[in-house]
Amino acid sequence: MSFSEASSGQQYARGLEGVVATESSICKIDGQQGQLYYRGYSIEDLADQHSFEGVTHLLLKGSLPNNQTLQQFSRQLRAERALPEAVVEMLRRYPSAVHPMEVLQSIIPYIGALRREEGRAIDLSCENSYHLVAQFATLVAYLHRIRTGQPIIEPDNSLSHGANFLYMLHGKPPSKLAGTAMDVALTLHAEHSLNASTFTARVVASTLANCYSSVSAAIGALYGPLHGGANEQVLQMVQKIAKPAAAADWVKQALAKKEKIMGMGHRVYKATDPRAVAIERLLQELSQSLPHHNDYPILKVVQETVRDYMRERNKPIYPNVDFFSGAVYNMLSIPANLFTPIFAAARIAGWAAHIAEQYANNRIYRPRALYTGPPPTPLGTRQS
Ligand code: COA
Repeated sequence: MSFSEASSGQQYARGLEGVVATESSICKIDGQQGQLYYRGYSIEDLADQHSFEGVTHLLLKGSLPNNQTLQQFSRQLRAERALPEAVVEMLRRYPSAVHPMEVLQSIIPYIGALRREEGRAIDLSCENSYHLVAQFATLVAYLHRIRTGQPIIEPDNSLSHGANFLYMLHGKPPSKLAGTAMDVALTLHAEHSLNASTFTARVVASTLANCYSSVSAAIGALYGPLHGGANEQVLQMVQKIAKPAAAADWVKQALAKKEKIMGMGHRVYKATDPRAVAIERLLQELSQSLPHHNDYPILKVVQETVRDYMRERNKPIYPNVDFFSGAVYNMLSIPANLFTPIFAAARIAGWAAHIAEQYANNRIYRPRALYTGPPPTPLGTRQS
């Protein structure tokens, strides 16, 4: 465990670094070796050989489905893709200045409330909330269509989860490569143990709040630039840098000013994040058939400059999942303000699994703070 020392001399784990807060059978991260497993299967094997729907089954149900079970499960998920008309209406009412993550955070409890009003059982623990996994992608695509003045597109249940998302977003079926790339990106983002948003989901679930409240809180945590918001910020950085030749100086100046380079560094990984490796490979594959952007060459210079700068200071940091993902989405013609919502549309599978696990063996979370304020003082006696 890594401790910080308070002015009083007492030690505590700042940012809960290294603290083991619960048991979980969902995800294992080996931060030293740069390895990640969902329920014992490596992320590389899952991304290469399984669909996002199969991975969702693994996370929610605990096992990889055989062909027959996968077909049944996919049918079940796909049947839930469409949004109730009232939800589409609500999406139309949001002011355009609101970030899509703020829309997602506030509309999820509304979806829960509508189901309650329809007399449908509310799933407290998320265990059977397949509709949330199915509908997140539809929410993101519809929000984009509505905001850009385009008609919404009904889901196509013959397409995989990722391919259908691209179809609903762009209004035309994606190429096989683009659909597969989207599925792989979703799989790579689906789960990551007790990161800030998943921990938030579990804390809220530990109060026995319902699934929708827990997921809504998790979305709020994911929105921040130090967590899921980093992918959007990476693309903004790339756009500011504009050309590979300008990247090294830009990065050195930012680091000299003690600014964080988005998409780099991780609390747990002390080696390259395996998701970044997989997403970089995806980016290279897509570059062979889709129009090129400057993003990838710029990112490579950023990566190398940060690596050299931090190595000299004996603080090696590596790209994380957000470093290359924005460039992949950019190649798939996805606008930057949807990057973090897409992260949420993948991570809902992991959140739901964690909320269900929390419910199955619950104890409310209640850490303590080291008090640093004034000593107990009778009212009216303090000089201010
Ligand atoms: N750019 C520049 N320096 C970085 C850095 C980055 N992206 N990430 C870490 N560092 C440096 C810190 O400045 C710090 O140096 P210091 O000891 O001189 O102050 C050191 O490395 C340790 O970083 P710290 O922020 O304490 O690590 P953390 O475990 O608290 O934070 C992150 C982890 C992910 C929040 C952090 O690396 C970060 O902010 N990265 C950018 C945002 C991002 O990509 N988030 C997505 C995560 S998946």
